[in-house]
Amino acid sequence: MKTLNIGMIGYGFMGRAHSNAFRKVNNFFPLDYRPVLKAACGRDAAKVQAFADTWGYESIETDWRKLIARADIDLIDIAAPNNVHAEIAIAASRAGKMILCEKPLAMNAADGAKMVKAVEKAGVPNMVWYNYRRIPAVTLAKQLIDEGRLGKIFHYRAKFLQDWTISADVPQGGPGTWRLDVAVAGSGVTGDLLAHCIDTALWLNGGISQVTAMTETFVKQRQHALTGKPQKVGIDDASAFLARFSNGSLATFEATRYARGHKALYTFEINGEHASIFWDLHDLHRLQWFDHRDAGLVRGWRSIHVSDGDQPYMKNWWVPGLQIGYEHSFVHQVADFLKGLQDGKPAAPTFRDGLATDHVTDAVLKSASTGRWVNVKKS
Ligand SMILES: NC(=O)c1ccc[n+]([C@@H]2O[C@H](COP(=O)([O-])OP(=O)(O)OC[C@H]3O[C@@H](n4cnc5c(N)ncnc54)[C@H](O)[C@@H]3O)[C@@H](O)[C@H]2O)c1
Repeated sequence: MKTLNIGMIGYGFMGRAHSNAFRKVNNFFPLDYRPVLKAACGRDAAKVQAFADTWGYESIETDWRKLIARADIDLIDIAAPNNVHAEIAIAASRAGKMILCEKPLAMNAADGAKMVKAVEKAGVPNMVWYNYRRIPAVTLAKQLIDEGRLGKIFHYRAKFLQDWTISADVPQGGPGTWRLDVAVAGSGVTGDLLAHCIDTALWLNGGISQVTAMTETFVKQRQHALTGKPQKVGIDDASAFLARFSNGSLATFEATRYARGHKALYTFEINGEHASIFWDLHDLHRLQWFDHRDAGLVRGWRSIHVSDGDQPYMKNWWVPGLQIGYEHSFVHQVADFLKGLQDGKPAAPTFRDGLATDHVTDAVLKSASTGRWVNVKKS
């Protein structure tokens, strides 16, 4: 078995989710490669050491440049906030490292395009952590669409709702609240929550050609956690857009952090000529399916419990009927990346695929500021 030495940058939410995936993947998926947790990197030595001890990293670094310079690191995993993705990825690709980068690929499509150029010039394997593609029920939706079971698709409808920034006392910037600081996040819910919805949509339903959008910043000023001073809020708190897909279907997308009662309500519905699909992150192992071709007497929405061995990824886990959860989507993404390495076929979404989402989010923000329909650039 070949080893693959991982250098992890960031030890927060995603640092944990990815480390867990690297540790578990070989226990469940037969692969030629074995990830080794070689080094964890963060700016605070005590915190990164505690993280390294918890997850079993062999060493630590406090400067990502030093991590990239190490000859014993094969792959750089960027699990740090959005404002450092581009700089780290470009430096890592110049050093010939493989790169896994968290979403959104970059602060904007211009930076994302530089990252794509860098990894493609260096010829290094690369992937963006749009992990929702690999929740088995979502992968099953892709399979059903690709098999043509829905027929012509008319509508795509997605939303991602949260409620954690309603209070004006939530600060912007700093650990835990960097998502509210436009200088670190790039945008608000558009690049954060909608990016997930858009990536899934592009994967399931093809390219988006045009959008028209509106955004709102409900709380205009918040204290900055690092300076302690009040500062204008530059992110969008809520974002909604209409879209036209290249296949002729129409779409609505909505995301907000002001939907009281919702923590991570990501749902999508797709309506086709013969059938419809509905999926809900809160019930992620189920796919709701309606097929108009069923006999009238029994026709109706059915809830598919995606846990059988012939459904995506499930034969690698327990026995039929037993479900898996959120963390497993990351295990699947690592498994597919490693399989891609051994087969010489890069697993998606590559940086170029991730750039397609950045083009849509750029167009959404441009439309919201101009009040016009905007054509989406191709990546
Ligand atoms: N795929 C998903 O579902 C998903 C979910 C959450 C976050 N994300 C993405 O993952 C990334 C990280 O988000 P998170 O929720 O893990 O954030 P987090 O705040 O929990 O963790 C961020 C980590 O990055 C570190 N960091 C910040 N600046 C750094 C620097 N210059 N050098 C080294 N380390 C640095 C922080 O110390 C912290 O350990 C973001 O791009 C975010 O959009 C993706």
